Amino acid sequence: MAKTNLQEIVLARRSIRGFLPGPVSRSTLERILQLARSAPSGANLQPGRFTVLTSDALENLTDILIQAIRDERPGVSEYSYFPNPLPEYLLARKRATGFGLYDALNIAKRDIKARKKQFEHNYLFFGAPVGMVVSVDKRMGKGCFMDLGMAIQNLLIGIETEGLSSCGIGALANYGDLVHEHLTLPDDEIVVCGIAVGYADPNNPANNFKTPRLNLDEYSKFLGFD
Ligand SMILES: Cc1cc2nc3c(=O)[nH]c(=O)nc-3n(C[C@H](O)[C@H](O)[C@H](O)COP(=O)(O)O)c2cc1C
Repeated sequence: MAKTNLQEIVLARRSIRGFLPGPVSRSTLERILQLARSAPSGANLQPGRFTVLTSDALENLTDILIQAIRDERPGVSEYSYFPNPLPEYLLARKRATGFGLYDALNIAKRDIKARKKQFEHNYLFFGAPVGMVVSVDKRMGKGCFMDLGMAIQNLLIGIETEGLSSCGIGALANYGDLVHEHLTLPDDEIVVCGIAVGYADPNNPANNFKTPRLNLDEYSKFLGFD
């Protein structure tokens, strides 16, 4: 069912890592992509491209990725998502997110095998019926990545307005070279991330996980007010 209250949608959205198998129509996805493209961008460059996969096309890609993981093929990312090394305060947030998910799934911190298995779900687009691959011209600067982020946020909100759910998959970029080759993306593009799209499975424990946010005074400062 379509949702329209923007504040409610933004506050209720969260990453979903377990989906029902039901398909998503092409016309719905086209509407969502048009919302993504309506985002503002510096000089209206509109950076980023979305390759939308379902059925066999999605399976062919996930087969390749899962095989690469099982073969322990080293990942080759086409760009760096996170700072390396992560400063301690960011590392703490990253760890809290990972452990929050493992807690929801009842996976013990030391159970490396189960954690690895769960990580594989990234490369299955968490079982979603639709997987998107986001790519961008590799010559783009940091500002253009900001623009792409705005388009992705519009996309994620658009997905919610259609009663669908999503999860960004930065992990897809760990095998950016494989994705690039398989989808025959242009040479001057890089794979930025994946996005799983579908109807949330309410019974999947991965979906019980809710991430916290910083308090207002930790990330903002007001000057000139009373
Ligand atoms: C671009 C992008 C990439 C992401 N990559 C992954 C990923 O590879 N694996 C994963 O489980 N979650 C991924 N996420 C989800 C984040 O972990 C999630 O957005 C964050 O923890 C905040 O939680 P929330 O989305 O439920 O509010 C990604 C999110 C975004 C926006």
